[in-house]
Amino acid sequence: MSKKTIGIFIGSLRKESFSKKIALSVAKMLEGQFETRLVELGGLAMFNQDFDDSGNTPPAWTAFRNEVKALDAFLFVTPEYNRCVPAVLKNALDIGSRPYGHSVWDGKPGGVISVSIGKLGGFGANHDLRQAVVFLNIFMLQQPEAYIGGVANILDAAGNITDAGTRDFLQSYADAFAAWINKIADR
Ligand SMILES: Cc1cc2nc3c(=O)[nH]c(=O)nc-3n(C[C@H](O)[C@H](O)[C@H](O)COP(=O)(O)O)c2cc1C
Repeated sequence: MSKKTIGIFIGSLRKESFSKKIALSVAKMLEGQFETRLVELGGLAMFNQDFDDSGNTPPAWTAFRNEVKALDAFLFVTPEYNRCVPAVLKNALDIGSRPYGHSVWDGKPGGVISVSIGKLGGFGANHDLRQAVVFLNIFMLQQPEAYIGGVANILDAAGNITDAGTRDFLQSYADAFAAWINKIADR
């Protein structure tokens, strides 16, 4: 049987994004059991329903919707912008949720890891994202919750996690997420 594919959605477009580095580490932890792929969000024009309504859907939206439809699970790794989920990630959620009745998010398992240079670990963004994805009927892993604070101090120049406690925690998160994906698939 072919491996299930987890799409990874990162809420930062920054080249040296800490969120992306954490996401790549978690992807490695999942790779034995799953295929993983980073889904590119930077080329998606801001959501405007007129594009779909007038038959001028941007090709990048169509490609994104098709890419998401083919995934088996979603992992969101995001910083917090002003206590909320960054616009790039919310925009992707909105684009995937339309046209009405054709959401590409419906009924699949998901997880969220929030990342911050501060101490609160992106709690606000984590729950801001949850508000939308629960509505979109993504079956979100509830526990463990993953709030990675002080992220600037736990990565080396190559993006490796240098803090053993964080590494162990993210491994336990990856294990729980893997079990959750299989549980939802077998239901
Ligand atoms: C527009 C903006 C808003 C931010 N707001 C928050 C915030 O509300 N809470 C927080 O912990 N960090 C905040 N930060 C700091 C981010 O945690 C930090 O920039 C982080 O490195 C962004 O993630 P990235 O490295 O994946 O790009 C903000 C940064 C920016 C650019």
